[in-house]
Amino acid sequence: MSTGALVDDFGRTATDLRVSLTDRCNLRCSYCMPAEGLDWLPSEETLTDDEVVRLVRIGVERLGIREVRFTGGEPLVRRGLVDIVRRTTELRPRPETSLTTNALGLARTARALAEAGLDRVNVSLDTVRRDQFQEITRRDRLDDVVAGLEAAQAAGLGPVKVNAVLLRGVNDAHAPELLRWCIDKGYQLRFIEQMPLDAQHGWRRDTMVTAEEIFDALRGAFRLDPAEEPRGSAPAELFLVDGGPATVGVIASVTRPFCGDCDRVRLTADGQVRNCLFAREESDLRSSLRAGAADGEIAERWRAAMLTKRPGHGIDDLSFLQPTRPMSAIGG
Ligand code: 5AD
Ligand code: SF4
Repeated sequence: MSTGALVDDFGRTATDLRVSLTDRCNLRCSYCMPAEGLDWLPSEETLTDDEVVRLVRIGVERLGIREVRFTGGEPLVRRGLVDIVRRTTELRPRPETSLTTNALGLARTARALAEAGLDRVNVSLDTVRRDQFQEITRRDRLDDVVAGLEAAQAAGLGPVKVNAVLLRGVNDAHAPELLRWCIDKGYQLRFIEQMPLDAQHGWRRDTMVTAEEIFDALRGAFRLDPAEEPRGSAPAELFLVDGGPATVGVIASVTRPFCGDCDRVRLTADGQVRNCLFAREESDLRSSLRAGAADGEIAERWRAAMLTKRPGHGIDDLSFLQPTRPMSAIGG
């Protein structure tokens, strides 16, 4: 049996697995999807719960995966989610298990997810203004998100993190307000620079809100000091707000890429390994699964998929090409 971690040609080791459980979503964030949605994956192409759990198990038992994050689309729309989480946290060594979600319906499932062993949630929320929420997500669901966040906190799925994307002329002027709200509620807010991952290819380098601009906006309202902890492979740069203990993170994926420290690998809802969000190629594990391959063969294929991982995303290069699949199909 071959053994060994998911190492690439540049010496990086992937220990953090992001699993997209569905490409579907009940919101239509403008930086992600068009208003009418996308052509969803046919159900026969989507991995079954057993197939997902098998791949996660191979990752944990044979490939050194220590952290599993379920994403989408929106992972809460997947019926088997609680069961998948339970079977994941029963693996040994037990992976740290979390969920990136828009929180619609989380008020109903937070407790069951916590009981299934889920450690934490990251909730996507770009504004606490109802009109702006509706403008960005094209749905009037802010109250459900707020309820979902509260339920997650109450169920012990903390520290609850909030991810926000700022859009010029929409919510960028209200970044301090969102930070104040999160601090008051006890959520850890992180701003993420908008990346070219939308299905409509509407991203523009010259209009995206940069980390520098986010700092400037926040510094108008708060004192920010770098938090002590070294950054490591965590993409967020953390700052103490007004002397702490509250913090805010800024993830400068575009203007200060952290590809050199990347420890991630992704699995799409249809069973393709992607060694990078911006990868141009995928490796098909679903075919191997369905052709009856043994665990060792699948692990070997997965390892081989890492060897083409590029040193960086190259968003600033003239030759940059956006991935053919949008974020909702890749998983955050
Ligand atoms: N750029 C940056 N972040 C994005 N997200 C979705 N699309 C983009 C994008 N184009 C965020 C969501 C969520 C996480 C999965 O990624 O808001 O928090
Ligand atoms: Fe759904 Fe997340 Fe895309 Fe918004 S960003 S449409 S919540 S998948």
